[in-house]
Amino acid sequence: MKEIINFIDSSKERYIDELIKFLAYPSISTNPENKKDVEECALFIKQHLESIGMENVKVYPTKGHPVVYADWLHAGSGKPVVLIYGHYDVQPVDPLDLWTSPPFAAEIRGENIYARGSADDKGQVMIHMKAIEAHLKKNKSLPVNVKLIIEGEEEIGSINLEDFIAEHKNLLKADVVVISDTAMYDKDFPAISYALRGLCYMQIEVTGPNRDLHSGQYGGAVDNPINALANIIAKLKDDKGRILIDGFYDDILPRGKIEKENIEKLPFDDIKYKKSLEVDELFGEDGYSTLERLWTRPTLDCNGIWGGFTGDGAKTVLPAKAYAKISMRLVPNQQPDKIEKLFTEYVKKITPKTVKVSINGLHHGKPAITPIESKWIRAAFDSIRQGFGKEPVFIREGGSIPIVVTFQELLKAPAVLLGFGLPDENAHSPDEHMNLNNFHKGIITASIFYNELAKLNN
Ligand code: BES
Ligand code: MN
Ligand code: MN
Repeated sequence: MKEIINFIDSSKERYIDELIKFLAYPSISTNPENKKDVEECALFIKQHLESIGMENVKVYPTKGHPVVYADWLHAGSGKPVVLIYGHYDVQPVDPLDLWTSPPFAAEIRGENIYARGSADDKGQVMIHMKAIEAHLKKNKSLPVNVKLIIEGEEEIGSINLEDFIAEHKNLLKADVVVISDTAMYDKDFPAISYALRGLCYMQIEVTGPNRDLHSGQYGGAVDNPINALANIIAKLKDDKGRILIDGFYDDILPRGKIEKENIEKLPFDDIKYKKSLEVDELFGEDGYSTLERLWTRPTLDCNGIWGGFTGDGAKTVLPAKAYAKISMRLVPNQQPDKIEKLFTEYVKKITPKTVKVSINGLHHGKPAITPIESKWIRAAFDSIRQGFGKEPVFIREGGSIPIVVTFQELLKAPAVLLGFGLPDENAHSPDEHMNLNNFHKGIITASIFYNELAKLNN
C-alpha cells in the first residue's frame, strides 16, 4: 500500500486539474436545456474510466439520462465483487447571483474547491476513479473485483435507474455496494452513514375562478386560490411541528435505546448551529433533539409556492390559480406510495368547496437503513481509521439516495455509505464546495478500502 499512497500523494495537483474538467459540465439533470451537457458529461466519465484502465466501459442510454458502467474483474473468484455507485448529475444553480465564482468554472479558495457538484457528487466519484487508477497504475491490478455504475438522474429521483438495475441484474451482481454520496459528521469527524431518509414529493394546484379577476370587482365574493392554498398548507402541520395528515406516523419504526444513546453521544451544539444559520430559534417536532429531528423523524416542507402577480409594483388581481411544491422526508418504514395516498386524501378533505384542487406526486424515494454489524462495515471502519488517522463515527443522514433500497432489494447486496463531504459544503446551494484535504484523504481511504475488502472471504 505504501507505494500506492506515495503515488496518490504525488498526484495531488493532477487530481485537482482533472476534477476541474469534470466540474465544468453543467450536468443539471432536471433542466431539459442541459440534456446535451449531461450526455457529454457521461462521455467524459467513459473516456476517463478507459484512460485509467477500467474495462467494458459503456454508456447505456435510458429513457432519461445515460448510465455509465465499467468493470475490472480479474481479482479472482475468491475475491468479493464490489459495486461502486455514484452520480454525475447536479442540482440547478439558481440563485446564480449568490455565487462568488461561476458554478461551472471551479475555483480554489483556501482549502476548498468551489463549483456545483464538487461535493455532491462529482468530487466523490472522482475519489473512486483516482483510487482505482492508483492501484491499476502501481500494481497493474485491483485487490477486488470492481464494477462501477455512475448515473445521471440521482437528483431527480433516479427515475430510470430502477428499471436499468432490474434489466441488468447479472451485469451488476455484487457482494457489496459502496456509495460515496454522503457527508462526514464534521470537520475531522469521518463517518459511516447507516440510514437515509426517504422522500415523497408532491405538487398542489389550486384553481379558483375560470380566469384572473379584478380584485375590486370580484374581491369579497369569490375565494382566492392563493388564500385557500395558504390555509391548506397551514393545516398540514401544527405549531409544534407535528404533521396532521391522518395515519402519517403509523409505520415508523420505534427508536431503539442503543441508537438514542449513540446519537446523544455525538457532540452537537444547538447554539453554534443557530449562529451558523443566523436564526434566533430552531423549529422542529416537540420531544426530539436536533439530531433526532434531522435523522430519525419525518418532515413536511413547502419547497416553493407561486401564483398571482409577483412582478415589481402592484396589480390588483384575484388570480385564477395557485401552486405549491411540498416534500416529505420519510423514515423507515414509511412507504412513499402510501404517504402519497394519505397526503392526497387529507388535502382533498381540507380543501374548501370554493376552489378545486389537483394533487400530483413528482418523485419518490424509499428510506433506507443498513446493518452496522457486518464485515463490510468493519472494513470501511478500518480503512477510514488508516486514511484519516481517526476512527469514524456512525451517523444517519437527513438526505435521501433512493437507489440504496433498490440495490438491497434487487441485488440483495448491502450498502456501505462512505461519505467524504461535509454537512456545510452547500450542496444544492450557491457556493457549493468540497474540502480538498478530504478529497485527498478520500482517495487514500478508498484505495485502502479496496485492499481491506480483499482480505474478506467471499
Ligand atoms: N447526496 C445527496 C443525498 C444526501 C444529502 C446524503 C445529504 C447525505 C446528506 C443526494 O444527491 C441528494 O441530494 N438526494 C436528493 C434525493 C431526491 C432528489 C430524490 C435529496 O436528498 O434531496
Ligand atoms: Mn448526491
Ligand atoms: Mn444531491
